Amino acid sequence: MRKIYLIGIGPGNSDYLTLQAIDTMKKVDVFFILEKEKGFKEFLKIRKEILEKYLDRETYRVVNAKIPKRKKNRKSYKEEVKTWREQKAEVITELIENKMKDGEIGAFLIWGDPSLYDGHLEILQHILKEGAVNFEYKVIPGITSIQILAARHKIPLNRIGESIVITTGRKLKEYTPDRITNTVVLLDNYSTFKDFKDSDIDIYWGGYLGSKDEILLSGRLKDIIEDLKKIRREAKREKSWLMDTYILRRPEGPESNE
Ligand SMILES: C[S@@+](CC[C@H](N)C(=O)[O-])C[C@H]1O[C@@H](n2cnc3c(N)ncnc32)[C@H](O)[C@@H]1O
Repeated sequence: MRKIYLIGIGPGNSDYLTLQAIDTMKKVDVFFILEKEKGFKEFLKIRKEILEKYLDRETYRVVNAKIPKRKKNRKSYKEEVKTWREQKAEVITELIENKMKDGEIGAFLIWGDPSLYDGHLEILQHILKEGAVNFEYKVIPGITSIQILAARHKIPLNRIGESIVITTGRKLKEYTPDRITNTVVLLDNYSTFKDFKDSDIDIYWGGYLGSKDEILLSGRLKDIIEDLKKIRREAKREKSWLMDTYILRRPEGPESNE
């Protein structure tokens, strides 16, 4: 039986691997690297760095594969992602079938943690359901971008007795200011924080967290919003891509009186 590991590698620094991730990597015969994201060269560099730092070169092989670009579906975002994942599933099926022998261990090095806004787990489950190829699989957790953000700003994600909400820029558009508690936002290409600039809300923002280009900014949103917009614009111009995460927090959360 083939075995696949989804190994969380943390978000952007080879120091963020857990001991479990390193021990698991040592057992792997073949690492699959999928070429897709913006800034791919830098993502590839970090993965290579991780392999070189923790493994002896002779012990593993690397197989690169291209995955199709996601095609926009203006009617349904869910359908857009579903179609894209199906296309990825075809590529991954082929890799497992043709690039691994029976009894071998393959792995995908997953940015951050495999359970946080990452499609690989569902893709593997989809492949097994389709029955195209059979394998066992296991998840090795990683440090998420959210943990790095909280650590850098030296804040807990929640205050006493409050909830933490994790969402995306797309979903944040539906929020009104009174719904903001400790609201962690990922995948925001649209600077959706702008919608909250007139309310008394604090923001803790981080770009390229964990990397040498890391940028941090925090304060009352209305006071720092122009700086933040400028920093984001310039970062995107300079590197052509930006990965950022932020926490929106009301000074007195709606739950704090409960
Ligand atoms: C597809 S999600 C993957 C999240 C990842 N699985 C994790 O555990 O952090 C990508 C989003 O995570 C956030 N992100 C990931 N790495 C980041 C980093 N190094 N700095 C800032 N945000 C990051 C950004 O919001 C980005 O749009």
